[in-house]
Amino acid sequence: MTVLSVKENLTSQENQKHQFPVNYAYDYLNGGIGYLSLPPLTLNKLLQNKEFLQMAGQRDHSGKYTQRSDNAIDIFPLTAGLPWATGILSCRQNKHWNVSIETTRIFLQHLAADKSTQDLYKSGHSVAEISQKELDSTLEEGWVKFPTYLFPEGDKERTKLLAAVNVFIFVFDDFWEMHDITSVSELDKACILIPKYKLTNSVSKFTKVQDEFIARMQPRLNNITSPKTKLQVLIDQAIEEIYGVDRASGNTAGQEMLELMVRFFSRPPPPTQYKDMEDFLLYRHEDAAVPYVLGCTKFSLNSSVDLDSPRLARYLRLVKDHVSVANDLGSWEKEKKAFDTGKVLYMINAVDVVKDLFKLPSYSAAVAMTQAFQLQIEVEINAEIERLIDQDDLNNEEWRFIDATLHVMSGNVFVSTVMSRYGGEKFKLSGTQ
Ligand code: FPP
Ligand code: MG
Repeated sequence: MTVLSVKENLTSQENQKHQFPVNYAYDYLNGGIGYLSLPPLTLNKLLQNKEFLQMAGQRDHSGKYTQRSDNAIDIFPLTAGLPWATGILSCRQNKHWNVSIETTRIFLQHLAADKSTQDLYKSGHSVAEISQKELDSTLEEGWVKFPTYLFPEGDKERTKLLAAVNVFIFVFDDFWEMHDITSVSELDKACILIPKYKLTNSVSKFTKVQDEFIARMQPRLNNITSPKTKLQVLIDQAIEEIYGVDRASGNTAGQEMLELMVRFFSRPPPPTQYKDMEDFLLYRHEDAAVPYVLGCTKFSLNSSVDLDSPRLARYLRLVKDHVSVANDLGSWEKEKKAFDTGKVLYMINAVDVVKDLFKLPSYSAAVAMTQAFQLQIEVEINAEIERLIDQDDLNNEEWRFIDATLHVMSGNVFVSTVMSRYGGEKFKLSGTQ
């Protein structure tokens, strides 16, 4: 496999010009699990035939059924020879990936230069340093890829705004993960445990993050201070634009996405132990920002779907499990190393939980069993979709959301495979410039 062979086989010839170059191929299951094969899922045929869109009554301008948006292209990871660790085979890539990279770069530059981020630090790393480090790395091979493949249907403007909120999520998430909640001051602890708890006169760094940044991202309550820095102006503009597209479309997807982002920042710290897999998954959904991911999906589609629709509850629960577990497998080796070397203070990963709950002898056994668990989730997703088709009770927006969320799951696996973030330089394809 080379950069060229992937390029030639990842899309149709005519879509090659839209490709986000793939320069890494991380085989995180090391050749696959000997006793597992990908389950044949009937949902693949349905995706290929765009049947969910038909059920949604989706037509293109010529009145023909079944068009997805023109903002994305189909990609074929298996045909390209990439390692592929899911039975969901349909995958999409947003065409405006350059907009994502540029927006990410601008936000990181402001985060790196802003004075207020320079004294927000812990364990020797400030937000400014974290941002500068990202700028010094090859940005386009890292987390900037997430929105391109998870939310492929977004138009240019929505894609830009998705890239902006993605920066907040990754920069502030990385920052928070480094905190040792046992060694910070009581003030800080109160802010971590009860994030909404406001302390006046506090010099707490967490309060500062909350006041300077998170408060600006919250749905406008008319109590926002006027921006003091260029960074704050930039944040305010992005938030205003998100409200702007909501107003223009008569939709609330942008506001919901922001609310779900704030919910992610307000999540509680991890428990020291998980009593069972269910207990872990419910925590991990929040920790992996999966409700926010679903909010982004809705925003990318300009959808009015009810994220709490009881008709979708079982399906979306399984989607959340899938996104969490698939990420845990892709990022397992990176996270294990970071934990073992003391770079992060918490291990929040299904592989670790599986090893512990089953008392398995090795981590490699736990990786295999976790992959089996992921495939089990996929089989359940397939069964739930068949049940929903049988019942024929979903509205158009719900069917459209099913189509999009199946691509969130395959996109998540794709990103884990082609980023340099998880596998590192060892998995760089030959022929990379
Ligand atoms: C991060 O997990 C990534 C995912 C769970 C995939 C989908 C989520 C997003 C694109 C948005 C949320 C991102 C974060 C950072 C929660 P992780 O926290 O295990 O980070 P890592 O695996 O990339 O290190
Ligand atoms: Mg992870």
